[in-house]
Amino acid sequence: MVRFTLSAALLAAAALARANLSAPQTVPGAFIVEYEEDQDTGSFINSIDDDASLRKDLRYKLFKGASIQFTNVEKSEDAAAKVLAMPKVKNVWPLRRYPLPQHTVHSTGSSVAAEMVKRQLQGNGTDTFSPHLQTQVNKFRDAGITGQGIKIGVVDTGTDYLHPALGGCFGPGCLVAYGRDIVGDNYDGSNTPVPDADPMDTCQGHGTHVAGIIAAQSNNPYGIIGAAQGVTLGSYRVFGCQGDVGNDVLIAAFNQAYEDGSDIISASIGGPSGWSDDPWATVVSRIVKNGVPCLISAGNEGDLGIFYASTAADGRGVTAIGSIDNTLSPALLNNASFTVNGAAGGSFGFTPGSPALWNGASLPLYPIGFDTTDPANGCDPYPASIPDLSGYAVLVRRGTCTFVQKVQNAVAKGAKYVVFYNNAAGTTAVSASVAGVSGVAMVTGEQGAAWVKALQAGSKVSVSLPDSGSATKFLANFENTASAGFLSTYTSWGPTFDLEVKPQFSTPGGMILSTYPRNQGSYGVLSGTSMACPLAAGIYALVMNVRGTKDPRVLENAISATAKPNFFNTGTAASTRKLLAPVPQQGGGLVQAWDAAHATTLLSVSSLALNDTNHFAAKHEFAISNTAKTAITYALGSAGAATAYTYAAEGDITPAGFPNALVANYASVAFSPSGNITIPAGQRKIITVTFTPPAGLNAKLLPVYSGYITVNGTDGAALSLPYMGVAGDMRSVTVLDKSQTHLSQSSDRTFAPVPANTTFTLAPPGHANDTIYRNRTVAPEVAVMLAMGSALVRGDVVPLSNDTSAQANTTLVLGTKTLGQINEFPVLLNPRGDFAVRWEGQLADGSYVPAGRYKVVIKALKIFGNPDKAEDYDSTETVPFTITYATLPKRRSVRTSKRGY
Ligand SMILES: *[C@@H]1O[C@H](CO)[C@@H](O)[C@H](O)[C@H]1NC(C)=O
Ligand SMILES: *[C@@H]1O[C@H](CO)[C@@H](O)[C@H](O)[C@H]1NC(C)=O
Ligand SMILES: *[C@@H]1O[C@H](CO)[C@@H](O)[C@H](O)[C@H]1NC(C)=O
Ligand SMILES: *[C@@H]1O[C@H](CO)[C@@H](O)[C@H](O)[C@H]1NC(C)=O
Ligand SMILES: *[C@@H]1O[C@H](CO)[C@@H](O)[C@H](O)[C@H]1NC(C)=O
Ligand SMILES: *[C@@H]1O[C@H](CO)[C@@H](O)[C@H](O)[C@H]1NC(C)=O
Ligand SMILES: *[C@@H]1O[C@H](CO)[C@@H](O)[C@H](O)[C@H]1NC(C)=O
Ligand SMILES: *[C@@H]1O[C@H](CO)[C@@H](O)[C@H](O)[C@H]1NC(C)=O
Repeated sequence: MVRFTLSAALLAAAALARANLSAPQTVPGAFIVEYEEDQDTGSFINSIDDDASLRKDLRYKLFKGASIQFTNVEKSEDAAAKVLAMPKVKNVWPLRRYPLPQHTVHSTGSSVAAEMVKRQLQGNGTDTFSPHLQTQVNKFRDAGITGQGIKIGVVDTGTDYLHPALGGCFGPGCLVAYGRDIVGDNYDGSNTPVPDADPMDTCQGHGTHVAGIIAAQSNNPYGIIGAAQGVTLGSYRVFGCQGDVGNDVLIAAFNQAYEDGSDIISASIGGPSGWSDDPWATVVSRIVKNGVPCLISAGNEGDLGIFYASTAADGRGVTAIGSIDNTLSPALLNNASFTVNGAAGGSFGFTPGSPALWNGASLPLYPIGFDTTDPANGCDPYPASIPDLSGYAVLVRRGTCTFVQKVQNAVAKGAKYVVFYNNAAGTTAVSASVAGVSGVAMVTGEQGAAWVKALQAGSKVSVSLPDSGSATKFLANFENTASAGFLSTYTSWGPTFDLEVKPQFSTPGGMILSTYPRNQGSYGVLSGTSMACPLAAGIYALVMNVRGTKDPRVLENAISATAKPNFFNTGTAASTRKLLAPVPQQGGGLVQAWDAAHATTLLSVSSLALNDTNHFAAKHEFAISNTAKTAITYALGSAGAATAYTYAAEGDITPAGFPNALVANYASVAFSPSGNITIPAGQRKIITVTFTPPAGLNAKLLPVYSGYITVNGTDGAALSLPYMGVAGDMRSVTVLDKSQTHLSQSSDRTFAPVPANTTFTLAPPGHANDTIYRNRTVAPEVAVMLAMGSALVRGDVVPLSNDTSAQANTTLVLGTKTLGQINEFPVLLNPRGDFAVRWEGQLADGSYVPAGRYKVVIKALKIFGNPDKAEDYDSTETVPFTITYATLPKRRSVRTSKRGY
């Protein structure tokens, strides 16, 4: 791991305008400071020369510091450097903000009283809630183990604790017993948080859904059962009603949850990173080291393929949770009715789309063809034979082309209403705001096919759809025939750029029914690793109850070893499910909570990281402990998981998106002692395992291989220990995409390159934010694209005029004659993706370069590179450009200004 000594120049990243919202944004002028030792924050702020105000006091047992805001944003890096130089300051980091994870809301309940439906909680008390059947959680409930006595701190959007299924109150004795609102409704990630004591989820819903997954009580109409109904919850609200959360707030929330005595801390929050050393991940790692397991969702960026780990899930010791699809696809459907030839035909459920202005209209259905398997139904413009459809609701099957295209074709024939029937299980909310359409909705494939059959037979079928405000809802549980029990395609892939194994394991997060705020329908079906993480947190509580330990390492080791590795799922063809999914996608696999709680054979590690070819760690030791009452003989073996190629083709520098190409080449594994080993009751043995990387791989495609060591005992124990390595050289990986790194200009939000020799007239030094210049000057903007993560990106300013004074101030750094770096460089710990930095002529030391001709040399440190070696950077330079400064207008006499004409 490359570790940087933070210096003035390394205080970058502030005020960074990110071109790509997938990359974490920084808050201009805001920094997190860590003190060497405790001190009074008020006096500390006063001791800073420059104008600084307090954002948040961050003085806790495991972290002592503050987040501060400099008033003069333009000089903030300079000021932050001075702060770092102060004797009592240990670290200064730029303040970054992260959005609420992009979870999917599939359907929600309504304010109209919910109909009681078939309960998953059977009359005899058996738990048949499908995510629990998948993870063995049902067995705990059936055995009366509920997480009693365990406190779970949840960092999220707050909790609607007045929801009857979430206890109906807040405070000691309630289900949601502790916690607080750390930010207030108006917090957006950039402004100053306004905390209060009440963590009510007033406007989001995410945290209320998460809380129900952990601990929803059974007094609900849909049979929702929290995984650990006996725990007490702590709720730490870190999002306002809009916007992001700053890492200072996340640091505060985690420390607070720790100090309030949480036994487990869970957060379904994150942002692209891939580096274990950012301040939030650092703090979470510390809490884990101090004995409290911290679980964080792996992220929902699976579409971007391998190497897209998210913070703080990627922290060392932090347990990152991936997502598995539910075996059922629950849907909260609006109740509606239909007629056949004028007589009552029955009721059906639909999911309203957008728009949804049905006005209770009763409309005859017009099917676009009678083939209920047509993959591209309604994608082509309708033939002339189809009549004017203004008096109908068009019935069309989902698939191939977009909803919008299908609606446009219907509208072209005068239709105002379109009913889709699904080509997959359940229904989904259609969004198709096409001019002319009043209502769109979706029904199940089965319902659509039944209607088409009746229509084909010559019947007239009419539907009557109520508006959402007046519709009653019911729960329909569809079999998930597409992906039941497989990894969710959206689940983010590790590993970190340092090749730490991520995620640790996976739980159901796709299509999860849980509680939702009362003002948003009370119940909802959501998808995301956000929904997987709280189930894992509930499982930790159950396993703590049974095992009688809260030790994060013991628990993670047991849960990883007993998790079930799963086959790879492309999201479509079941026939491709022949290879075990790569460890960087699933970690140990699907958690089997009961097995983890009752395993008597324990391993001393939860995974093995083999690194790359240049740092190959061939030999590893781990211990097998037999805590059973009799001797057990173990057979050791291994099972290869699919090797994932990072790149689609030789010469590519950007990792392929999902699904990465997979091949069946596996590492081979040798054990010492070899052969079956017998371990007497109560004893442990150290095993040495030696790996040989797979043969026959194309190293140019950067293969990531992985698999599982299997430990099968004569008592029936069947453990699997995940391992992962790279059969290639990480240092030779291209990190900087030179073709998309160039000089652009602040007036162009597409970040297109500017031609060479462009002249920019900038605001006079120090006046860039004056009203008269702010929106009138066009500044050069350096656009950087990282094909892979880089821990350090430099932006050196090189003078091009032969003016001796300009050249005299240069120093040779890493082979470049530089005046210094642009004030917002270097940028640290970058995920892959792009960012852009606007330049007003200021350097990192706070000075301004003279008017003149310049270029900027951009250098991105390679993975495992040495920051002091020029050859360890990818480097490119911008075209030459010229900057001049406007002259300040002369101050005019303002003698008359107070006269009030
Ligand atoms: C892999 O090796 C590099 C270089 O020594 C090191 O920095 C990194 O931490 C190693 N990764 C793991 C997971 O051990
Ligand atoms: C610039 O000035 C505006 C208005 O005074 C202020 O809101 C904004 O925060 C300033 N921006 C920076 C980057 O200093
Ligand atoms: C309870 O009912 C469920 C569903 O009918 C059944 O599968 C289960 O075996 C029953 N359990 C007991 C303990 O009777
Ligand atoms: C090792 O154990 C396995 C199963 O426990 C058994 O099938 C196998 O024959 C044993 N191998 C040896 C060499 O004893
Ligand atoms: C251990 O058991 C699993 C199935 O539970 C099997 O796939 C694997 O081959 C076994 N390993 C050994 C070494 O017998
Ligand atoms: C930019 O200016 C340099 C030096 O005056 C000249 O050599 C070069 O051709 C110019 N480039 C363009 C694209 O105008
Ligand atoms: C100036 O630019 C900022 C940021 O681009 C924008 O939010 C603001 O509305 C602009 N102000 C004016 C007066 O154009
Ligand atoms: C600057 O001086 C160097 C060396 O004296 C010379 O090679 C170069 O052509 C000069 N460049 C310009 C733009 O005058």
